[in-house]
Amino acid sequence: MDLTHPELRGVVDLDVDGPTISRHLYGHFAEHLGRCVYDGFWVGEDSPVANTAGLRDDVVAALRAIDIPNLRWPGGCFADEYHWRDGVGPREQRPTMVNSHWGDVVEDNSFGTHEFLQLCELLGAEPYVAGNVGSGTVFEMSEWVEYLTRAGDAPMSRLRTANGRSEPWRVKYFGVGNEPWGCGGRMSAQQYAGLATQYATYCRDHGDNELYRIAAGPHRDDYAWTETLMKTVAELGGRRLLHPAPWQAVSFHYYTLGGSPDKQGSATRFSTDDYHRTMVDAWRIEEIVAGHSRVMDAYDPDAEIGLVCDEWGTWWKVEDGTNPGFLFQQNALRDALVAGVHFDVFHANARRLVMANIAQTVNVLQAMVLTDGPDLVLTPTYHVFAMNAGHQDAVSHPVQVTADGGRHESGAGAYRTITTSVSSRDGAALVSLTNLDVDRPATVTLQLRGRRWSPGAATLLTAPTPQAHNTVEDPAAVAPVPFDGARQVGEALVVELPPHSFATVRLDLGD
Ligand code: AHR
Repeated sequence: MDLTHPELRGVVDLDVDGPTISRHLYGHFAEHLGRCVYDGFWVGEDSPVANTAGLRDDVVAALRAIDIPNLRWPGGCFADEYHWRDGVGPREQRPTMVNSHWGDVVEDNSFGTHEFLQLCELLGAEPYVAGNVGSGTVFEMSEWVEYLTRAGDAPMSRLRTANGRSEPWRVKYFGVGNEPWGCGGRMSAQQYAGLATQYATYCRDHGDNELYRIAAGPHRDDYAWTETLMKTVAELGGRRLLHPAPWQAVSFHYYTLGGSPDKQGSATRFSTDDYHRTMVDAWRIEEIVAGHSRVMDAYDPDAEIGLVCDEWGTWWKVEDGTNPGFLFQQNALRDALVAGVHFDVFHANARRLVMANIAQTVNVLQAMVLTDGPDLVLTPTYHVFAMNAGHQDAVSHPVQVTADGGRHESGAGAYRTITTSVSSRDGAALVSLTNLDVDRPATVTLQLRGRRWSPGAATLLTAPTPQAHNTVEDPAAVAPVPFDGARQVGEALVVELPPHSFATVRLDLGD
């Protein structure tokens, strides 16, 4: 293999099904943080920005276009200081509070439970509500679940009806706290496991609404935390998994921080070495998902308990002149490539990994869209979500790599530069391909066996440099374009990828 021209070869059996890629791996996260909820989603009914009941029409339309499957809310760290009763009832009577985690600003609670659920309805997304363990009570959490999901004549359904909504909502995903090892209460794993069991017990299934309770898991590679949670379920069940378990999934968070020698550099002003450090850090998601999965496999070989990565993405220095507590950052082609790596890892681990939520959807960290007054900019990361939408609920077809000459090695670290994944759904397959190499093109050759296929539309996302990004003035500096670099050679799909690029190829499938 000519190492001056990076190349990856692999075999894919289109007639052999791997795990289904849950659409929830393309999930989202919106916190009361900076301009995510306020300004990002919520502008209020009287805003000159076009809105439906106070919710921005342009943001809703952009997210509907990428088939947003779920939205996690209200945090993050904010979840553990949020008291849901403050956010229901007439807006002018809602109490205010200090958002001590994020900018120390006063929160007026104008966006609360009803506004969030209405947003989910407009988006066509499932709500994922994160409850307060850090500073809330078991009773408060239990009543919130009742308020959200109980029909008929009961205290919380009466209150909901008085607040303008008689029908309960369907809420499946419910988080039991957030980062309890840090902002969510500085607890030990043992301490949290006990509390989570207690809180989750009182999150009842009302009527036919079945909750999927998600225990707050570790940071990065704290496998001992995951082990404590799994052991708790096993011990409750007398060394077998307890049925029903107090929670149905365990989450973890992983951020890509490696943008400069001091970790978090600028989103757009970075060196080539910074780029390499970022990619080394991005690839760590692979070992971290594998590590948590290994621990879970030991207690739960049938993968009854899901793994959820409910915060992931790049975390850079805030843009100059913005509030450091608002975490507002630009989003460059580099971020899109980080997303390409994450999705391939998520697809490969879809048996155990049931949900992932990018942090965060609008105006915070690795956002899909950035708003500026009435303007909206789609980020390069948005385009990866759009181009990959066909993987949602598709069957994965693992790529057996037979030769991989795509590798970078320098003082910044070593990483694989070519990654790909394949899935199929509704008579079509989708191939995603990422070339992280900054300077060199790459060739990917996949032997696609087991079914007849012919190449369909292909799309490319790249730009002259990895620093390229979109602004109000130049909204399409990084935008998908039709791609002519994919061809069929016998049984093989051969794709010539430009440097620092992401591409997708659709295949029409026969028998
Ligand atoms: O996404 C920003 C913050 O990062 C979240 O509030 C917290 O859970 C994590 O530390």
